[in-house]
Amino acid sequence: MALKGRDLLAIRDLTREEIEEVLAASRRMLPYARGQKVGAQLDGRVLTLAFFEPSTRTRLSFETAMARLGGRSVTIADSSSTSLRKGESLYDTIRVISQYGDAIVLRHPNEGAARLAARASDRPIINAGDGAGEHPTQTLIDLAAIREAYGKLTGLTVTLLGDLKYGRTVHSLARALALFGATLVLSSPPSLRLPAPVREDLDRAGIRIEEVPNVPEAVRRADVLYVTRIQRERFGDDAEYAQVAGSYRVDPPLLEGVGPKMIVLHPLPRTGEISPEVDASPHAAYFRQAFLGVPVRMALLNLILAGRSS
Ligand code: NCD
Repeated sequence: MALKGRDLLAIRDLTREEIEEVLAASRRMLPYARGQKVGAQLDGRVLTLAFFEPSTRTRLSFETAMARLGGRSVTIADSSSTSLRKGESLYDTIRVISQYGDAIVLRHPNEGAARLAARASDRPIINAGDGAGEHPTQTLIDLAAIREAYGKLTGLTVTLLGDLKYGRTVHSLARALALFGATLVLSSPPSLRLPAPVREDLDRAGIRIEEVPNVPEAVRRADVLYVTRIQRERFGDDAEYAQVAGSYRVDPPLLEGVGPKMIVLHPLPRTGEISPEVDASPHAAYFRQAFLGVPVRMALLNLILAGRSS
């Protein structure tokens, strides 16, 4: 397995076989992720987390993953506490902190920040979200959740519902699903359609894509319903946001009549687009998906830092 020492900046950095390998490794991590086994695979390793945007799941699951494998992490969780505040460039910050730990996990509001960081660092950079760009480790988690439910990743119809323009998780996920020959149903407010560069990648992959703005119809088609939050922080002005706020909501009536195996995923946080009553439904898989952040990130860190798959 050749992931050792490599960056993960965008989902296209991984082949289909490499994605399969990470998912297989993540299943071997489950007993460690649950605390039933104590891991020491990353004993002595140090992971640096540099988070310049809010995060709950991503940051804590990376830190937990490291801890459960016997490694340590050091974290910037608030950019106002760093020298960026004094005017230091991201390039210089990364150049310096890359000399401290063994790899850097970066979250930053600018698209392309992870690529810039990779030029500044001679240690692996893992992109944990670059503005409206990509979020490839979330995609590995999303795929793990789909694989767990269906036992496969091929031949499924996946409906992407919500903010497809600014939602970086869907940009990475759609590109990954193209590798597995999924059918994609795209459902968004007209102003929040998938950006042209992502759409072009999907078209090039030759998969079936349908735009279905009618939400009930888009939901009926789905084996997997992937819901996203409207990324309010990326909007130019509040008037633009007000036009689309609350324009879709997944609730129990919407799920009546869907297939028995259909699952609802969401990278979280949700802000009203899935009603809490859905939580009790057998279709709700988003909290399980959030848990999978730990074993998937354990597998990824073990592969990148130690070149080991168990
Ligand atoms: C996502 C993100 O940061 O892009 N969160 C996450 O990592 N689970 C989704 C979001 O913020 O809407």
